[in-house]
Amino acid sequence: MDKELVIVLDFGGQYNQLIARRVRECNVYCEVHPYTIGLDRIREMNPKGIIFTGGPNSVYGEGAPRCSEDIFELGIPILGICYGSQLMAYLLGGKVETAPVSEYGKTEVAVDGTSILFEGVSQKTVCWMSHTDYISEAPAEFTISATTPVCPVAAMEIPEKKLYATQFHPEVMHTQEGIKMLSNFVFNVCGCCGDWKMSSFAEDTIRSVREKVGGGKVLCALSGGVDSSVAAVLLSKAIGRQLTCVFVDHGLLRKNEGDEVEAVFGPQGPYDLNFIRVNCQQRFYTRLAGITEPEQKRKIIGEEFIRVFEEEAKKIGAVDFLVQGTIYPDVIESGLGKSAVIKSHHNVGGLPDCVDFKEIIEPLRLLFKDEVRKVGRELGIPEHLVNRQPFPGPGLGIRIIGEVTEEKVRIVQDADAIYREEIAKADIQGLGQYFAALTNMRSVGVMGDERTYDYAVALRAVNTTDFMTAECSDIPFEVLQRVMNRIINEVGRVNRVVYDLTSKPPGTIEFE
Ligand code: XMP
Repeated sequence: MDKELVIVLDFGGQYNQLIARRVRECNVYCEVHPYTIGLDRIREMNPKGIIFTGGPNSVYGEGAPRCSEDIFELGIPILGICYGSQLMAYLLGGKVETAPVSEYGKTEVAVDGTSILFEGVSQKTVCWMSHTDYISEAPAEFTISATTPVCPVAAMEIPEKKLYATQFHPEVMHTQEGIKMLSNFVFNVCGCCGDWKMSSFAEDTIRSVREKVGGGKVLCALSGGVDSSVAAVLLSKAIGRQLTCVFVDHGLLRKNEGDEVEAVFGPQGPYDLNFIRVNCQQRFYTRLAGITEPEQKRKIIGEEFIRVFEEEAKKIGAVDFLVQGTIYPDVIESGLGKSAVIKSHHNVGGLPDCVDFKEIIEPLRLLFKDEVRKVGRELGIPEHLVNRQPFPGPGLGIRIIGEVTEEKVRIVQDADAIYREEIAKADIQGLGQYFAALTNMRSVGVMGDERTYDYAVALRAVNTTDFMTAECSDIPFEVLQRVMNRIINEVGRVNRVVYDLTSKPPGTIEFE
């Protein structure tokens, strides 16, 4: 490979791709590989640096993921993070133990400013910790370069051998100077120069899709959201009219969304695409009747989706490939690899085992939402489309807690439309995602001297850059009050409106 490469070795943590993406932000190409990858393959790839991820295991645990200690002899700079740091300590003769107190969350860390990993970082800096084990004794040769009151070895290093380790997670935004630390590793330790760009990603992908597809026909699952729109335009640039985009209106879309999507991608829109809209609302409502368990709902919606695509593909005939706009957070939270399952995102873990396509192409699988937006801009997609707020594949199905019914869909559509209208009127900028959801709670209220017993609508708004972590947005109280008033007055069967303050973690952005 002629471009600079840093590889991330995946030991099963939640933030593996986030590390890769932070490195790509430094304009250095970065890929995640399983920890089982052989040393020969690593030598062949010739990376400028290696990063070990965190993970849920203890290094002493049965079946704990471990790599060969010969990796430290390759002469390639290595940064171990969290579990990765403990593994480095363990393999090189240090001591790892259960910490007397687990550290979880933002923690003040005292760093040694003479370490090149911490060059330009404040002496006391807030870092994100999430661990029960810790390094109680660094291996001989290592110097300790950071501590916390709980953690005697919050970071350690052997600069001559270019081995570095941090107990905390520099890749998450909560580590206030984490990006500085990672860029110190990439540039100062690994010696990268940073000449890779997102446009190379679009060009490489278009080339590899052309090669893979040859003269075959391809169907794209288009939802009108940012991800599938970018995937569709990318594919259309690669293979033109060999592509057909199918838009399924499953009755779980936002108010008027079906028509809006058709206006952009249909025959009246700016793109030269084969576009088919399938209206099958009742089919989904029937399948979802009586189902309350979130994972079951997701799987049903995912399966039904695929069945609709299969039917459409049969009508077109000889379709080999299905394209989906799956992006990285969808993959990781569906529990692929060794990470824990958070939820089955409908275009990943929610797929049925048996799918009637030769292959599924997911060109954006390694990217995060804002990286997808960058690709969208590279492809010349208009800003209002690139900046659309994300909408999940299972749609309102996962914003209605409990059973989905047509009436509940109507309630949440109307409430959400009011919420979005008022946010737009108030011209509030910078929100990552905001929407109304329908809780499964009914409570007693009073309206016009009458007792009511109706639903509570939950309003959610989060600030986030990567959708892996998020914080509740500080929407002005008078805007929230206006939204509440309008929802209570204009949307039938709602007598209560609540605002969700939860960040992610511990919450997720969607409700199911
Ligand atoms: P959570 O709820 O997991 O959401 O914190 C993170 C981001 O992913 C979106 N999301 C999905 N997107 N299919 C998708 O395409 C899904 O099944 C799905 N579930 C959640 C969610 O809207 C947020 O942007």
